[in-house]
Amino acid sequence: MIITPRTRGFICLTAHPTGCAKEVERQINYVNAKEKIDGPKNVLVIGSSTGFGLASRITAAFGSHASTIGVYLEKPPKEGRPASPGWYNTAAFEEKAQQQGLYAKSINGDAFSTEIKSQTVELIKQDLGKIDLVIYSLASPVRQHPETGERFRSVLKPIGQTFKNKTVDFHTGEISQVHIEPAEGDDIENTVTVMGGDDWKRWMSALHKANVLSENVMTVAYSYIGPDLTQPIYRDGTIGKAKEDLEHTASEITTSISDVKGKAYVSVNKALVTQASSAIPVIPLYISLLYKIMKEKNIHEGCIEQMYRMFKERLYVDEIPLDDKGRIRIDDWEMRADVQQEVEQLWEQATTENIYEISDLKGYHTDFFNLFGFEVEEIDYDKEVNEMVAIPGLQ
Ligand code: NAI
Ligand code: NA
Repeated sequence: MIITPRTRGFICLTAHPTGCAKEVERQINYVNAKEKIDGPKNVLVIGSSTGFGLASRITAAFGSHASTIGVYLEKPPKEGRPASPGWYNTAAFEEKAQQQGLYAKSINGDAFSTEIKSQTVELIKQDLGKIDLVIYSLASPVRQHPETGERFRSVLKPIGQTFKNKTVDFHTGEISQVHIEPAEGDDIENTVTVMGGDDWKRWMSALHKANVLSENVMTVAYSYIGPDLTQPIYRDGTIGKAKEDLEHTASEITTSISDVKGKAYVSVNKALVTQASSAIPVIPLYISLLYKIMKEKNIHEGCIEQMYRMFKERLYVDEIPLDDKGRIRIDDWEMRADVQQEVEQLWEQATTENIYEISDLKGYHTDFFNLFGFEVEEIDYDKEVNEMVAIPGLQ
């Protein structure tokens, strides 16, 4: 079929198989061109099909020759209806990995469920024996509780006061004011239930109980802090409460896996265009300005550059550098004072009239469509493609 982008709000409903494959290939080529990492051997990535999770899987596999198992929730294709992008990404990744003789298998299902955890444990036992790195990179608006079956929804709201600021519609470039009412009722608790550390802890406990964690195992989950500008809606908002919970969970996990000398870390990553971040008001405008400044200073990174640097310069070094709260920081370039000052200045100036000049909204737009395999150079979108792509290692 011929596949074109169909968008609704901040989501794109279609994905292009060869476009997604090209994007995965670009990430693989990036890692292949870099120095090898004396890194993990057997890796489980939870949330492996897009964003930071996919980049982590690519880094482990191609940077360190690791065997990888991926867990994700993606829609398979149907005749005449393309799959979700993570499906095509995974298909491309596993094909490339297997071509290079790397073990790569995956499980498509709800990572929050007990069944998917058991299925993953069985696959590890059968094929790999033990795991020495677990990456936890889920981003989801909903979670069905594994015990009660209750469905929780996370919300993106400020706490205590209405948030008013500029935001941009990244399709049209229109700047407007957003007003977001503060959290009420169970909003905070629900968001913590979905995006906090409970599920990460359950994963590590299931793996530990099954005796599939090797000695000195590490596990890493991803967090975000960001600038003052987005503080009320992000770090001091409902999602920030969930991230705080996730960060506290790291030390609990470390204690619970101390018999195998395991360690749990949170890595604070840079703001990047992913399906998860495009849904957060204000963030696209911030990212567009940030990209402009970071590209000018030659310190711009995408998911793959971030994850390669995280593995190479943070995780697999003699002594892991941590901040005063025990976190890995790979948002260091984003948070540089000169970068933030310049972003703040531009933020003040930004209007619908000047937005394409003073920001990299064009880059944001391209990155967004690239997530779905669109606007990728070298792809002829007028050509028929087969939407019925299979994932080689899908269990
Ligand atoms: P993403 O949307 O690209 O990836 C989410 C992954 O989770 C996908 O593989 C998806 O299939 C999987 N997933 C979602 N629900 C699932 C479920 N129920 N069962 C199994 N798999 C499921 O998101 P992104 O941005 O890579 O986020 C990953 C982590 O990184 C999140 O914790 C996020 O908060 C964090 N982060 C993101 C930043 C950003 O700017 N995008 C910045 C810093 C941290
Ligand atoms: Na991810």
